[in-house]
Amino acid sequence: MLRTHTCGDLRLTDKGTTVTLCGWVDSYRDHGGGLFVDLRDRYGITQVVFNPPDTPQDIIDASKDLRAEYVIQVTGKVEPRPEGMANRKHASGEIELRVTELKLLNKSKAPPVSPSESITEIPNEDLRLKHRFLDLRRPVMQRAMILRDKITKGMRDYFADLNFIDVETPILGRSTPEGARDYLVPSRVHHGKFYALPQSPQLYKQILMIAGYDRYVQVARCFRDEDLRADRQPEFTQLDLEMAFIDDDDIMTLIDGLVVKLAKDLLDIDVPTPLPRMTYDEAMRRFGHDAPDLRYGLEIVDLTDLAPQSDFGVFKSVTDAGGHVRAICVPGGANHYSRRGIDALTEFVKGLGAKGLAYFRVNEEGVLDSNIAKFFSEELRAEMGTRLDAKPGDLVLFSADKWLGTCKVLHGLRKKIGEEMKLYDPKAMNFSWVVQFPMFERTEDADNPQAIGKWSAMHHPFTAPLDDSVDHLDDDPAKCRAKAYDLIINGYEAGGGTIRIHDPEVQSKVFGLLGIDKETAQDRFGFLLEALAYGAPPHGGIALGLDRMVMLFGGFDNIRDVIAFPKTQKATDLMTEAPGLVDAKQLKELAIKTDL
Ligand code: AMO
Ligand code: AMP
Repeated sequence: MLRTHTCGDLRLTDKGTTVTLCGWVDSYRDHGGGLFVDLRDRYGITQVVFNPPDTPQDIIDASKDLRAEYVIQVTGKVEPRPEGMANRKHASGEIELRVTELKLLNKSKAPPVSPSESITEIPNEDLRLKHRFLDLRRPVMQRAMILRDKITKGMRDYFADLNFIDVETPILGRSTPEGARDYLVPSRVHHGKFYALPQSPQLYKQILMIAGYDRYVQVARCFRDEDLRADRQPEFTQLDLEMAFIDDDDIMTLIDGLVVKLAKDLLDIDVPTPLPRMTYDEAMRRFGHDAPDLRYGLEIVDLTDLAPQSDFGVFKSVTDAGGHVRAICVPGGANHYSRRGIDALTEFVKGLGAKGLAYFRVNEEGVLDSNIAKFFSEELRAEMGTRLDAKPGDLVLFSADKWLGTCKVLHGLRKKIGEEMKLYDPKAMNFSWVVQFPMFERTEDADNPQAIGKWSAMHHPFTAPLDDSVDHLDDDPAKCRAKAYDLIINGYEAGGGTIRIHDPEVQSKVFGLLGIDKETAQDRFGFLLEALAYGAPPHGGIALGLDRMVMLFGGFDNIRDVIAFPKTQKATDLMTEAPGLVDAKQLKELAIKTDL
């Protein structure tokens, strides 16, 4: 080996020993007579000193040519740093290496993205992605990759101890039912036919249960051609699992145990279990969203029944049309948001589809006051104040709209105000479950006008209804709730799963409601339906978004920071320049013509 220690190994106890280190020049300071270099590798930073009398003059001369990111090997003696010069930021900050030998292992061009820990401004993201080899050298990125490895290993160990076995499933396959757009791969052998990259291993893992494997787990790559956001990548990783002979409670209890272990091992946090569970209906009622951030309050209060008592046209017309008037009360919000602040919130909610943002400030006497106060009697305002638990200095914000419209606006406001008013400790971790999702939702897909208003599966068509919901498949599908559960961390959906249907009669009813006729079902999922007919055990599972988990455990706000080679928002890889053009010959083999 070219080194005896790493740049994070040496301590005062190594004083006097001769060692050899290798690494990158993180920074250097020329003091005329000699040179100080911070030498960096993935384990840390050690100060190496080229100074007389320890360092021979020819080596001091040679050291003056060192530049940022040069790769060097240095040998020398470990000595304590002079009194008062220790750097507590680094584990090896109490010592330095007095260099006696230097070997230049490689030069570097001037880096367009500096990996140095000392830089304060994070470089532009496009530049970072293009020069990912430099960006990944940054200590914060290395910590992210190491955390990712620890979380993955922690998960694998947890499930291995519980008798799960890891089975790989195909990447080239048939379209799976998660409902996003597929990535397609043309077949050279069968012109005009395509493989679909898996949106998840969903169907394969169900087949494995039927095949008797009973506890399956996989760190699985998934592909979805959908619009990208800060928490979404076209290619991402799931910790995917499936179990037989269990029910929804068993899966949640299993994952509770995993969360406890990861939080303890990685963050030294004790998480009490069972993790709180909230139904979808309650989440929408109290927080307007199916993945509520529970690190702060700002709960929604429904005032629909009071609206008709006012003379406020906006509220009355909405409630007359069957809509809702709901509000949040922001403690201290009246002082935090000036007139201009409220204008900005109004613009923000308009972006979410709201027509406006009615509000009250709670004055020092505890009275609700604003430009619309005249439309509300004193008693009515007092009643609203009581319902909202409004205190002097609070700000009350309203949304009057259809149910889902109010959910969208008030959820957006909660999130924005939570961040702007710093209503939570950014280091806090909040884990919970949202359960009993609706089985079906009405499609709003503008791409497909024929589907609008038809039922679609909220999860996927193999999701089982709650036992007491089965009858609603016949009488009122909107009321039908599923054995579905999402793991929520700090307002993000970190994982989701369901118990699957194993009764052919229920399955065919669900297909019927979803407008999937026998032929289509046969064509898309024929192999699964066939397998289900050969003694399928009751089964279910879950998939955790590994990238999202790492992002949340690491305190990152962007999923790209925890993926070594991510895609941009436009689904491109700036380093390799994928997607790229291919040779005409390759297209010909695939019998594909493009008009480019
Ligand atoms: P679902 O579609 O809910 O379930 O996905 C499970 C989890 O995967 C993560 N996730 C993503 N992460 C990054 N980028 C994306 N584009 C992306 N899409 C999803 C989320 C999500 O909670 N087969 C089912 C699981 C099951 O029923 O067992 C499934 O894939 O954290
Ligand atoms: P207008 O009568 O349109 O001037 O609105 C009076 C107040 O109500 C303004 O502060 C608007 O921003 C607000 N407002 C209008 N429509 C809505 C709505 N649907 N929900 C909440 N507030 C609204």
